[in-house]
Amino acid sequence: MSAILSSAGGIYYHLKALRYRTLWGDFQESLNQWLCAGDLPPEIFIFGASGGYCLTETFLKQFERITLNDIDPLSPLFFRNRFKNLNCTWDKHNHLLDISRGEGKEFLKKHGGSLFLFCNILGQKIIGIDNKKHFLMEQFSDLNFISFHDIYSSSLSFKLPDHEILEGIDFSVPADAKKYLGPSFMRKVEITDHLTKDLFPNLPKKYMQWQISKKRFHLIEGVKAFVGRQ
Ligand SMILES: C[S@@+](CC[C@H](N)C(=O)[O-])C[C@H]1O[C@@H](n2cnc3c(N)ncnc32)[C@H](O)[C@@H]1O
Repeated sequence: MSAILSSAGGIYYHLKALRYRTLWGDFQESLNQWLCAGDLPPEIFIFGASGGYCLTETFLKQFERITLNDIDPLSPLFFRNRFKNLNCTWDKHNHLLDISRGEGKEFLKKHGGSLFLFCNILGQKIIGIDNKKHFLMEQFSDLNFISFHDIYSSSLSFKLPDHEILEGIDFSVPADAKKYLGPSFMRKVEITDHLTKDLFPNLPKKYMQWQISKKRFHLIEGVKAFVGRQ
């Protein structure tokens, strides 16, 4: 029941996705352009798939085998409705909880050849995991994964970097705050830190803006870790 009523997913998230689907279009487009770039393995395992609201069929169709994972029992219904012609397998087990407890070896061995996609989950509440996100991601250090996640959110829009790829944005550094905060910097509005900016110190980062509702903007960070690939 808690996954259905979770603040980071569940019924509220599905309703939000339906309500703001037009507003989400720009983010969806830049995200999927970035996701599709490069050489991708034939299998993908998606954590926090939900209804797949940020993903496109073009991206998903590149994979021969797609496994979806979400502990919200409503997710398969909404995902199937969005991608009617896609062949996918659902796995509803809380693998992230197991892995964060050091108990995921069998699972990681079984799916080790897949690309893992952390689908807008690391900057949100992960059910069963509190302060263990660093440990969790260490378990994927020798595997192929992509994550896109919130780093900051605010009621005003952010100023996106001119460059495609950066080492990282940190608003506690005055130069970054001045450069990328946009109107929030001048007007001193509240900014939520999603505590993800130091999760991937060594990976290049792509930044995208997601207007999630009429008055809420998220700064999204994307990272790709491909072992032995470009
Ligand atoms: C913010 S939503 C993102 C949904 C979707 N990927 C998107 O971008 O539209 C986060 C999702 O993570 C799921 N989630 C939370 N904890 C999880 C866990 N331990 N394992 C798998 N999924 C989880 C939630 O149920 C929710 O659907």
